[in-house]
Amino acid sequence: MEKLGLLGFSEVDRTKDPTYYVNYLDNLNESEWFQGYKDRGFARLKIQESNHILDVGCGVGKDAQVLAKKVGKSGRVVGIDSSETMIAEARQRTKNLDLPLEFYLSDAHIIDFPDNSFDVCRADRVLIYLAEPLKAITEMVRVARSGARIDISEPDMATLVVDMPNRELTRKILNVSCDNIPNGWLAHQLPTIFKDLGLKNITVNPETYIVKDFNMASHSFDLTKSAKYAQENGIVLAEEAEEWLAYLEEASYAGRFFSAITGFCVCGHKP
Ligand SMILES: C[S@@+](CC[C@H](N)C(=O)[O-])C[C@H]1O[C@@H](n2cnc3c(N)ncnc32)[C@H](O)[C@@H]1O
Repeated sequence: MEKLGLLGFSEVDRTKDPTYYVNYLDNLNESEWFQGYKDRGFARLKIQESNHILDVGCGVGKDAQVLAKKVGKSGRVVGIDSSETMIAEARQRTKNLDLPLEFYLSDAHIIDFPDNSFDVCRADRVLIYLAEPLKAITEMVRVARSGARIDISEPDMATLVVDMPNRELTRKILNVSCDNIPNGWLAHQLPTIFKDLGLKNITVNPETYIVKDFNMASHSFDLTKSAKYAQENGIVLAEEAEEWLAYLEEASYAGRFFSAITGFCVCGHKP
């Protein structure tokens, strides 16, 4: 049975090809929109010299590098990730840099740092892949100091849209894409979670990623795999899956393809 690609982020090292996920992150990082998205996220953190920062689910460590340059020598940036492949890659890429960087293999559900350790705890596109994101967020708050910023950005899989006239069919396939991620709805639950955890000055910034090329969208949002999964699981007929994919490919060829997803970037302060 076809397994959805994005789901592999839950267990990168157990997938057939962990380097696929390294390349996925590198490709995305090259896109112009994505660089703007990252810059807006860094600005939101209001980093100051000497800050201690925790990057949960740091991937290949690119963000940690950027943040380490901002905190100066007296600062500290720690990246944690549950994937050995990602941590090895992050260490390899930064080993010759004279930056206050550390990378550790660690599961976000149990963060191995004492209470009140960091001025900023952030996670970017990580917690939707977790079995128990509330546990991880509670841990992030625990290791944050009083006054620290907690900043979490997640795509909301329920906001994935694709311009295709057959609404019912499109909904069925996009629901597969959303429901196969452990917590595809987490993004729009974050503001309430932050409130319930007692965080203050909560801000919510939406970010919409628009993709006008079918291949790129299929890669980013698992469109082809979702259609196949829907077919294999009896959610749609084989000819419906084919019709859907053929329409989107033709639309893309004709310059008429449109898809988008919105993420929510939620920031709050620990009292
Ligand atoms: C989509 S990537 C995002 C990486 C990075 N934050 C970025 O913006 O490029 C998701 C990352 O979360 C990591 N991850 C997934 N489950 C995790 C867990 N339980 N604990 C820590 N990291 C996890 C994956 O290994 C992967 O590196």
